[in-house]
Amino acid sequence: MSRNQTLFERAQRVIPGGVNSPVRAFRAVGGTPRFIQRGQGAYIYDADAKRYIDYIGSWGPMILGHGHPAVLEAVTKAAQEGFSFGAPTEREIELAEEILKLVPSMEQVRLVSSGTEATMSALRLARGATGRSKFIKYEGCYHGHTDSLLVKAGSGLATFGHPTSSGVTPGAAQDTLVLEYNNLAQLEEAFQRHGKELAAVIIEPIAGNMNFVRTQLAYMKRLRELCTQHGALLILDEVMTGFRVGLHSAQGHYAQLIPGFKPDISTFGKVIGGGMPLAAFGASRDIMKHLAPLGGVYQAGTLSGNPVATACGLATLREIQKPGFFETLSARTRRLVDGLAAVAADNGVPFSVDAQGGMFGFFLFPQLPQNYATVMSTDKERFNRFFHAMLDAGVYLAPALYEAGFVSAAHTDADIDATLEAARSALR
Ligand SMILES: Cc1ncc(COP(=O)(O)O)c(C=O)c1O
Repeated sequence: MSRNQTLFERAQRVIPGGVNSPVRAFRAVGGTPRFIQRGQGAYIYDADAKRYIDYIGSWGPMILGHGHPAVLEAVTKAAQEGFSFGAPTEREIELAEEILKLVPSMEQVRLVSSGTEATMSALRLARGATGRSKFIKYEGCYHGHTDSLLVKAGSGLATFGHPTSSGVTPGAAQDTLVLEYNNLAQLEEAFQRHGKELAAVIIEPIAGNMNFVRTQLAYMKRLRELCTQHGALLILDEVMTGFRVGLHSAQGHYAQLIPGFKPDISTFGKVIGGGMPLAAFGASRDIMKHLAPLGGVYQAGTLSGNPVATACGLATLREIQKPGFFETLSARTRRLVDGLAAVAADNGVPFSVDAQGGMFGFFLFPQLPQNYATVMSTDKERFNRFFHAMLDAGVYLAPALYEAGFVSAAHTDADIDATLEAARSALR
C-alpha cells in the first residue's frame, strides 16, 4: 500500500472524510488524495516522495511558487519577532498601503483571515451601509461558506433562494436571489422586480469556481449601471482573481475595457497572504465608515492582520510588482493553454481554453462555457481519465472539472513543455 493510502486511511479515522476542506478528498475524480510533504518552486512532493508539477498552488495563493527566498526570509524574521499580539502593528499599515496603491477603487481596507470572512463581512457592510437586506449572487460562483451564500436559485425570479447545505436555515437563504451568470435578460428582470430592496450584488468578475468563466463585458457594464441606478452596492469578489489575473486584479482589467468602471466593495484573499491565512475587504471611506469601531457594522478577529501572515503577504506583493512579472507569468500561462489546445486539436478532442495572468481554465467542450450549467455539462468521465493520467505522469491539476488552474512564476518553459508532453500521452 502506498504511504498516501495509509495516511488517507489514518486521516479518515480522525478527520471527517480525511480532509479539512472537501475538494481535497478527490471525491469528484475518485482515487486517493495525495498527502503533500513539501513544496519547492513549481513542484510539490507527496508522501511517497513522488514529484508533481503543481497547477493548484494552494488554490491560488502560491503565485511565486513554493519557498520563494524573499518570502521565506520575511516570514522567518516576523516569526522570530512574535506570532501574534492582538494589538496593532506597523506591518498591517504597510500591507494596507500596498494593497490600496494597487486597487484605486478602495480608500480603506480591513484585514481578516480567510476569504469566507472577507465576503461575509463585505455583505454585512453592504447591508449596514444601505439599510437593505436582499442581495444577488450567481449560480457557480463560490464566495466561501457563509450561510446566506450557500444558496441555490428558487423557482423563478419571484422566489428567493434555497439552502445548498443542510444546516443552513430557510431564513438565512430567504434574502439571497440567485441568478445565472452572464444572463442579461434575467439581470434586467431581477432589478426591475427587486432593485429597490437590493443591498448588493456579489460576483466573481472572472469566476474560478466553475472552472474559468469571465463575466462578459456587456454584462459587467450593465450590472454596474443597474447597481448605481438602484442604489445597490457592487461587490467584486476578487479572493481568487486579486493580484492573480493582473497587478490591478480583475477590476483593473475591466476598468481598461469599461471606462470609469469600479466596484463599490472588493474582497481579496489567497495571493495577498502568499499562502498564509490572510484576506481583506475594502471600499471607499464613505462605505468603510460604517464598520466598527467607527460605525454600527460589527466585524472583528483575534488573528486579523496577523504579523507573520502580513509579512508573507507583503513580501509576495512586493515580488509581483517587479518589472515584467505579470508579462512573464501571462506568457507562461499562455504557452500552457495554447499548447493544451494544440495537443487536443491534434487528437481530435473537443476542447476550449481561457486564461488571464496566472489563472487558466480548460474545458473538454468545443466552445467556452458562459455559465455553470454549461460547465457542468462538459465531459466528466473524460476529464477524470485525463486528470488521473496527468497525475500519474507527475502533473497535479485541480481534482474536479469545475475548478480553475494556476501557474506560478516558478514554472519554467521546461515545466510547461513537460506538462504538454504528458497531456499528449493522456489525450492520445
Ligand atoms: C472567489 C472566492 N471567494 C471566497 C472564497 C473563500 O475563501 P476561503 O477559502 O479563504 O474562506 C474562495 C475560496 O476558494 C473563492 O474562490
